Amino acid sequence: MSIVTEIRRVTVPEIKAHKNAKPVVCLTCYHAHTARLLDSHVDLMLVGDSLGMVMHGMENTLGVTLDMMITHGKAVMRGSKHALVVVDMPFGSYEESPQIAFRNASRVIQETGCTAVKMEGGARIAETIHYLTQRGIPVMGHIGLTPQMIQIFGGFKTQGRTEAEWPALEADAKAVADAGAFAVVLEGMAEPLAAKITKQIVIPTVGIGASVECDGQILVMEDMLGLNPNPPKFVRQYANLGPEIEKAVKAYAADVRDRRFPGTENVYAMKRVN
Ligand code: KIV
Repeated sequence: MSIVTEIRRVTVPEIKAHKNAKPVVCLTCYHAHTARLLDSHVDLMLVGDSLGMVMHGMENTLGVTLDMMITHGKAVMRGSKHALVVVDMPFGSYEESPQIAFRNASRVIQETGCTAVKMEGGARIAETIHYLTQRGIPVMGHIGLTPQMIQIFGGFKTQGRTEAEWPALEADAKAVADAGAFAVVLEGMAEPLAAKITKQIVIPTVGIGASVECDGQILVMEDMLGLNPNPPKFVRQYANLGPEIEKAVKAYAADVRDRRFPGTENVYAMKRVN
């Protein structure tokens, strides 16, 4: 029996219970300090592979590795004790076969201690979702604008703009739900289609640039805090921390250059006393 008693995280069944109920609050998170700040306000934190772009300055998510996801996953787990933490499976770590996906996903679960993994794709990865969930790994799906397919899409393009595209995306949503995913992200999806899918499937949908009708919403935290100079158009900014950080750094630089640095006097004074 575990001796860890002070940590009581949101569970997979609790996230599933948000279907047609109170919206599920989700944000991305990549590091320990921000995990601590978000923890009591969100139901779910996603260690998204968007960290490749946000934290590491990559052009897209394709260069993100399993080791990077595990490093950031561990940090978010250390900084939190309430929200359910989901770690993204990066490009190349799950597409080949259900067996390889299981091996890599079990590494993520064992090494980070997170609850679940997320993987992109609909019908084409349904067999893998089934394989993992049958073996104890909760999976969050992700359909619509799936950034790991950016080279096929030819850019970050909203999916389902024409009704002709809808049946395939509806089939993807159903396949993911039938395979056992506990929730599914609908990213960059035409509003009426996202609303329609939300009504059709039995698991919660989590929208990002999709529809207010989804069962929950997720944003990239740095986008909503004003740290990304070019956020996607749909993002509502709740703070503008970029200029605040610049202002603080400018004040610090001026203090250092003018030898106005009171903190150090105290340190030296203490040393002298000791
Ligand atoms: O990687 C990520 O941050 C994501 C969200 C945008 C859903 O997948």
